[in-house]
Amino acid sequence: MTAMFDDFLFGGDYNPEQWPQESWEHDLELLGRSHVNEATINVFSWALLEPSEGHYDFSMLDTIVAALDSRDMRIVMATGTAAIPAWMARRYPHVMRIGADGTRQVFGGRHNFCPSSPKYRERARVLASAVARRYTGDSGIVAWHVNNEYGNGGGYCYCETCAAAFRDWLRARYGTVEALNRAWCMNFWSHTIHDFDEVVPPVTYGDGIGTDKCVISGLQIDYRRFQNEQMLDCFRLERDAIREFGMSTPITTNLMGTFKDLDYFAWGREMDVVSWDNYPGMDTQPSFTAMCHDLMRGVGGGKPFMLMEQTPNQQNWFPYCKVKHPGEVGKLSWQAVAHGADTVQFFQLKQSIGGCERFHGAVIGHDDSDRSRTYRDVAALGADVAARAKRIMGSHIDAKVAVVFDWENYWSIEGCVGPTQGLRYPDEVHRFYRALWKRNVAIDVIESTADLEMLRRYDLVVAPVLIMVKPGVADNLERYVEGGGVLVTGYMSGIHDEHDLVIEGGYPVPLRGLCGVWVEEIDAVAPGATVPVRLDASGAAVDCSEAIVASIIEPEGARTLATYGGDDFYAGTPAVTAHDVGDGCAVFVGTALDEDGIDALFDDVLRATGVATFDAPDDVEVASRIGDDGTVYTVVMNTGDDTRVWERTGGERIVLDPFAVLLYENDVLVAAPTR
Ligand code: GLA
Ligand code: ZN
Repeated sequence: MTAMFDDFLFGGDYNPEQWPQESWEHDLELLGRSHVNEATINVFSWALLEPSEGHYDFSMLDTIVAALDSRDMRIVMATGTAAIPAWMARRYPHVMRIGADGTRQVFGGRHNFCPSSPKYRERARVLASAVARRYTGDSGIVAWHVNNEYGNGGGYCYCETCAAAFRDWLRARYGTVEALNRAWCMNFWSHTIHDFDEVVPPVTYGDGIGTDKCVISGLQIDYRRFQNEQMLDCFRLERDAIREFGMSTPITTNLMGTFKDLDYFAWGREMDVVSWDNYPGMDTQPSFTAMCHDLMRGVGGGKPFMLMEQTPNQQNWFPYCKVKHPGEVGKLSWQAVAHGADTVQFFQLKQSIGGCERFHGAVIGHDDSDRSRTYRDVAALGADVAARAKRIMGSHIDAKVAVVFDWENYWSIEGCVGPTQGLRYPDEVHRFYRALWKRNVAIDVIESTADLEMLRRYDLVVAPVLIMVKPGVADNLERYVEGGGVLVTGYMSGIHDEHDLVIEGGYPVPLRGLCGVWVEEIDAVAPGATVPVRLDASGAAVDCSEAIVASIIEPEGARTLATYGGDDFYAGTPAVTAHDVGDGCAVFVGTALDEDGIDALFDDVLRATGVATFDAPDDVEVASRIGDDGTVYTVVMNTGDDTRVWERTGGERIVLDPFAVLLYENDVLVAAPTR
């Protein structure tokens, strides 16, 4: 794969308009010395660029671009359309988003526009076009950054413009009200409608139960689909406006990992390159961050992605914002690279003195010097990146295991009112992902609708909480298993169709023959209660402290891999089963096994599939990318803050300090980057 950029981008968001121009030279001097070679600019400058409707003033941006060009800095140019300027909110209140509670946003904040508003769309397109017209041809620009983190903080819009567009969307999708009534099960609680105009978005003072659940779950899912498309339209119209100027510079917008409201697989198909913003919190496990990287790579069709933002030190928006330990930012950066990032970028290059982000980490901090620990850490990382990262660009990841992550399943499972409110979709996917990650298995993250050809690339496909089985999915999975594949799925799977209606005939109906089980009941397990489970092969007893749900299973051809213990009436019945079908096998995990349980189960599953695993000490992650010439680039990371000792085969003993990173090329140690 040819690399997207001619150099490895090391930089990030830079907002020099917040400081007097006299200070820029000093910033750029410091940044240059820390090996920063890129600046992302113009993300929030609409009010400066268009001080009144249709009147543009590029003087500030021209000066910024010239300053960066004079230093040979690469530029990621944003379109600046993510926060509505005051004049527009005042003149056209309808461009502003209305929340699920019916309140219309006034001027202020950001990510605050109605994605259906014709006025917003018009002004955003014209601005993107004006910026593109002016700067296309500037040799510093290496990528275009449309808008910013669509949907972040704002949530969906529930205004009358959106409602009217939604009704049209439904007309086109369902044709008749009868079809809609059927798809949404509208005879429930007298919801039957007789005209599309009677449809109301799922507001909290109507059918919405909070913003995540709804009286009519089909309404909720369809509203999510609709809003996703509206926002994606906004991206497309800016993208196309930029494209009109004829250049081939890649166009992206920054995504947010497992962010719930947008189906990023649909977005990935529209973007030249996926970029995303990685902000792990204090409790985020390194395996979860790894999963997000793999997900973002999957969204981009497996191609390398841009790490558009991460903080070089603290965030400001968690309740408590811990400083990063020495070496931690380096570890996070190399972890991203190991999972497919071809850039390392920060939010931000210089720390604001005003506004609500003034306590957010930045390369140049409030001390405004090169003396801070953050600056020195970034500079050391910059030197490593400059020396090592470029050759890794464009290389790929060779995975024999796929984990399914599917936004409509996300919406469906978290939209359920019952049997438990304990299931968070990303956490359940991560429960399975982590067991693979701990064995240092390369993993692709794919959609549930991946076709058979794609499924057949993998020896193992893991589809946790696959509650919504969309048309074609069950067939593909069945043929995949018959052909020799191993499928792992389980609790809360095989329940809904694409309208979020229960499929009658005994869970997991569409997967029942494949899994060889009937789940007759689903017991909810209260937080703190444990469900004892015994793994039959190893005899290991696992107390599932996070069981959440327990499927009460009647095998229909499947053998039992684990059994419930305890004294509930279903003690002694299967908790985990396996069903041999054709040349493959389908494993059904009936309950949310805790870490020990799922690790033990996956040891067995991985052994059976023959997928290569790699043993390393606890907390030590080993991940590789493969170059077109076959070179294997391996990153070994101590992801934790305890020193770890790695005894390699052959007697070599390596001490890994907290957050230490080692780089290997074809198994030869090429760098132990500074920390
Ligand atoms: C997001 C935004 C940035 C900034 C950072 C702070 O990722 O895109 O503008 O607000 O968060 O963490
Ligand atoms: Zn709206």
